Amino acid sequence: MKLILLGAPGAGKGTQAEKIADKYNIPTISTGNILRAAVKEGTDMGLKAKSYMDAGQLVPDDVLIGIIKDRLKDKDCENGFILDGFPRTIPQAQALEDMGADIDKVLNIEVEDEAITKRMSGRRVCSKCANSYHIEYKKPAKDGICDACGGELVQRKDDAPETVKARLVEYHKMTEPLKDFYNELGKLVTVKGQEKVADTTALVFATLED
Ligand code: AP5
Repeated sequence: MKLILLGAPGAGKGTQAEKIADKYNIPTISTGNILRAAVKEGTDMGLKAKSYMDAGQLVPDDVLIGIIKDRLKDKDCENGFILDGFPRTIPQAQALEDMGADIDKVLNIEVEDEAITKRMSGRRVCSKCANSYHIEYKKPAKDGICDACGGELVQRKDDAPETVKARLVEYHKMTEPLKDFYNELGKLVTVKGQEKVADTTALVFATLED
C-alpha cells in the first residue's frame, strides 16, 4: 500500500502512521522527523530548515522534494510506504506525481483547530528517538522518560501556542488545497479524528480495508 496521510498539524498523522505501519509492515516516511534529525545533526539541510520550522513555516519545496525523491528509492519502500507530512503544497504533490509514485490512497484526518491547540500543548517527544507521547492521552510508563529508549521527553519548540497558530495558518493556506487535488484524482478518503486514539484507528483501518 502506498499511502499519504493528510491533515492539520497535530491531527494525529504520526500517531496513526505508527499503527498502520505495524499492521501493514511498511515504513513511515515522516518529513518532520527527517528534518528534525537534520537540525539535530547540524547538516546543511538542517541549518537551512531550522529557521522555517521554528517560525511554524513550511520549508522550501525544493528541499522536501529532494528528500522524498531519494527516500522513495530505498529498498524498504518497494512494497509500499506511508508518507506522513509530504506533500504539503501543490508543487510537492505535482512533483510526487511526476516521480510516478503511484499513490493508492490519501487519508485525510480532520480535526478542528481548537482541539489541535489543546493536543499540541500536551505533546512530549523523545529527545533521542523521536517517539511521541502525550501528558494526558499517551503517558509513558515513567514520567518524562521514553518507554522505547530511556531518552528524556521534551516539548517540541514548534508546539508553543503562538507557533501552533502560525502552523495552522500555513496549513489552511498551503496544504488544505491538496484535498481538492486528490479528490479530483479519486484518491481522497476522509476520517474524522475522534477523542480517543483507538477510535480514530478503528475508523482508519475500516477506511483502508474498504
Ligand atoms: P511535522 O513534524 O510533519 O509536523 P505536523 O504536520 O505539524 O505534524 P505533527 O507531527 O505536529 O502532528 P501529527 O499530525 O503527526 O500529530 P500527532 O500524531 O503527533 O512538521 C514539522 C515542520 O517541518 C513543519 O512545520 C515544517 O516547517 C516542516 N515540514 C515538514 N514536512 C514538510 C513539507 N512537506 N513541506 C514543507 N515543510 C515541511 O498527534 C499530536 C498529539 O495529539 C500527540 O501528542 C498525540 O498523542 C495526540 N493525539 C493524537 N491523536 C489523538 C486523539 N485521537 N485523541 C487525543 N489525542 C491525540
